[in-house]
Amino acid sequence: MVYAGEILVRKDAGRIDEINARLKLESMPGTVGIAHTRWATHGAPTAVNAHPHTDCSGRIAIVHNGVIENYLALKKELLDLDHSLASRTDSEVIAHLVEEYLRRGEQLEQAFRRALQRLEGSYAVALVSSLSPEKILAARRDAPLIIGVGKGFNMLASDITALLDMTKEMVFLHDGDMVVLTASGYVVLRIDTGETVERQVKVVDLTAEMAEKQGYPHFMLKEIFEQPETLRNSLKLQTEYVDLLAELLDRGRTIFLLGAGTSYNACVTGSYLFSQLARLPTLPVIASEFIPNYGASIGVDTVILAVSQSGETADVLSALEYARMRACTILGITNTVGSTLTRVSRAYVLQNAGPEIGVAATKTFTSQVLVLAKIALRLARLRGKIAQYEIDEFNSWLSRIPQAVSEALTRVNEPVRRLAESKVVFILGRGVSYSTALEGRLKLMELSYIPCITYPAGESKHGPISVIESGIPVIFVAPPDEYRKLNIGSIMEMKARGAYTVVVGDALDQELKQLADYYIEMPKIHPLLSPTTYIIPFQLLAYYTAIVKGHDPDKPRNLAKSITVP
Ligand code: AGP
Repeated sequence: MVYAGEILVRKDAGRIDEINARLKLESMPGTVGIAHTRWATHGAPTAVNAHPHTDCSGRIAIVHNGVIENYLALKKELLDLDHSLASRTDSEVIAHLVEEYLRRGEQLEQAFRRALQRLEGSYAVALVSSLSPEKILAARRDAPLIIGVGKGFNMLASDITALLDMTKEMVFLHDGDMVVLTASGYVVLRIDTGETVERQVKVVDLTAEMAEKQGYPHFMLKEIFEQPETLRNSLKLQTEYVDLLAELLDRGRTIFLLGAGTSYNACVTGSYLFSQLARLPTLPVIASEFIPNYGASIGVDTVILAVSQSGETADVLSALEYARMRACTILGITNTVGSTLTRVSRAYVLQNAGPEIGVAATKTFTSQVLVLAKIALRLARLRGKIAQYEIDEFNSWLSRIPQAVSEALTRVNEPVRRLAESKVVFILGRGVSYSTALEGRLKLMELSYIPCITYPAGESKHGPISVIESGIPVIFVAPPDEYRKLNIGSIMEMKARGAYTVVVGDALDQELKQLADYYIEMPKIHPLLSPTTYIIPFQLLAYYTAIVKGHDPDKPRNLAKSITVP
């Protein structure tokens, strides 16, 4: 808060209600202030890393949502200019950059604008200063920021849920907007030119609870539809962390990809990516089976890449503790900074998918696959297994994933009755599509409670096909890859036994479309990256089937978001 010509800072790590009770946040004096609850992207959630962050003089304080991609370079520049930065966050550089421009004679608003122009990456940032105690300066790029227009007061937030109890009049700032806000009004200007612009006030007629789901009926559906945006964030990974993981993976004699549930399925996808792109054999392993299966065979030349959205899954952590005691190298991919996985990993990469509230993993699966693809590509280059033109071509496919997922999201908007009414469903795939089938099975089972059978499509003749009877649905994951002809053969053999065939395939594949009883059209995507897009119909089918069956998609029976007990 800004009060009596000073900035009062109270902050800590932990649960908000506990911090409030301990630091009496609600009784802080003053009428102008900023606050932030941090979904950490850099630096563990500790008091010193908590927001707000101040400059050296203590005259400026900022809060920030997003990822400053060039913060290391900015931090070095500021340290060379004798700034002292206390935290390990990227956000803190903003306060010191503004201070540096003040030192060079700029006025506060101009100093703020100059600092913003130096930032690369995403931000929704707010600043208060004892130099202008009646103002809040704020700006946004690739992160939401909204003005709440009140009577005799004004507010700012990243999400309307924080404003709805006080006002329904909102101004949705645009990327590249900066705002100077006071209790009596606000001025919006462009960061690049400094010109003022008009932004329309919109009345938002939503309750806070509805807004938290951004108008979606369930968190799961919101998170499914968030995937184009979360995948764009995952594409902006800190390359130095991807490089480090690739280098450490390359040193391993035996490499395990370890996870549970959806994260294990992402590990299976990763094993195809590492093998086909980097020519690196890896072993995907279910966390609870790691010790029984491989415990006696690991050692100092073993590398384990653990994948865990929560970073707290007990099966994963106990496997890693066992491996750590045997001098294995432990690496991590997680969505949760400060989680135990980040602390036990020698190096880790963050998915940057944002909090996932629905128990069923959706956006965190596709972001895990994207992260694994980026690491596999980096490994391929490191191991000299791929030419520059192939790297460029694969990067181009990676950049198209958010758009492909956007298109895939339009392909399913209701359940498939024959699936919803069936006593069992088969889901089959070949190659990397086997991993998509595994994840599709988990989604359908955990939300619709229908038993699902999944195995590599080539296995049918070795036994499982005896289960097929007339009308049993068999879903094929069939992107236009080298297995297309084999898939056609598999579909024919199932049809010959009376199965109801559902095919998830390329929108332009007329032959497959004719063959299937029900066809779900997919946009063009690199076959190795197809799990990011071909999983979308399964997420949506699972959601809509749960709804027609009267299940709560956000809280499926018997399940929890993070399984912290073995
Ligand atoms: C997937 O929808 C389930 N929520 C569950 O299988 C989950 O993937 C598994 O428990 C692993 O969780 P983690 O990624 O947090 O380790």
